Amino acid sequence: MLSPPHIDRYAVFGNPIAHSKSPTIHALFAEQTGEVLSYEKQLVEIGDFARSLRVFVDAGGCGANVTLPFKIEAWEAANVLTDRARAAGAVNTLSFTSGGIVGDNTDGIGLIADVAINAGVSIKGQRVLLIGAGGAAQGVMLPLLQMQPGELVIANRTVAKAAAIAARFNEHVQPSSCIHVAEFADLEGAFDIVINATAASLAGAVPDIPASIFDASTFAYDMMYGRAPTVFMQFASARNATVRDGLGMLVEQAAEAFNVWRNVRPATDKVLSILRASL
Ligand code: ATR
Repeated sequence: MLSPPHIDRYAVFGNPIAHSKSPTIHALFAEQTGEVLSYEKQLVEIGDFARSLRVFVDAGGCGANVTLPFKIEAWEAANVLTDRARAAGAVNTLSFTSGGIVGDNTDGIGLIADVAINAGVSIKGQRVLLIGAGGAAQGVMLPLLQMQPGELVIANRTVAKAAAIAARFNEHVQPSSCIHVAEFADLEGAFDIVINATAASLAGAVPDIPASIFDASTFAYDMMYGRAPTVFMQFASARNATVRDGLGMLVEQAAEAFNVWRNVRPATDKVLSILRASL
């Protein structure tokens, strides 16, 4: 008797998870690359992450993505951490290997790929402002510094959190770069690149930043996305900045996770267009 064909199983764990686009993205990647796999959504109750993960591993799961609010618990569940996961302080990609659970983080490289490749904006030597000092901001610090911005300013509503992140990454600042911490009110002059890593757009709010940080040569990036431009993008557009939302970052972090698991990096342009059209 023929045994049923084996399909490698992957999943995304989160709460809430109903609206996750990851299964769609990974199904498109699998179709494009000819990789045979399944990718499902797993709604995990708060406090139940470690057990749910174990059930999935025991059932033969090969890997998982982890989204809010479990990225720290995923870090704790990992037996081995990649350098970029360690730097991010959080894990969004798990691989179940014979050597144990490997925790990785592809969010930061996803942002860089979307900015530098998809949008074609060079970061090297530029004056960059990172707004926010939560998990999203910390997750992009290492890959951002590796692109050697001329100056990286971190500003946050709670400035002490920005200072803590800056201190943590000081050792990664290249000789050609420098890093500063600023209060919103003290931000001066237009930046080449402004990245909004706060959760403010979720609440329909713009951080209390001066409009003068944007001009017609600024590239303004919001890690959030939606059908319409976010309020942050509207604020930057009013100053003639070029704006982009975080949908490309979502697709790129998924492409990198796919690469981690399958050792093939899918093309992202068509997948991004399909997702954009579905918003
Ligand atoms: P995440 O993991 O998404 O980064 P987080 O760790 O809760 O979430 O961090 C949220 C970030 O958004 C913080 O930088 C927060 O500023 P504070 O550290 O001062 O709380 C920022 N944030 C949320 N709402 C904001 C708002 N309305 N204006 C400015 N910053 C906001």
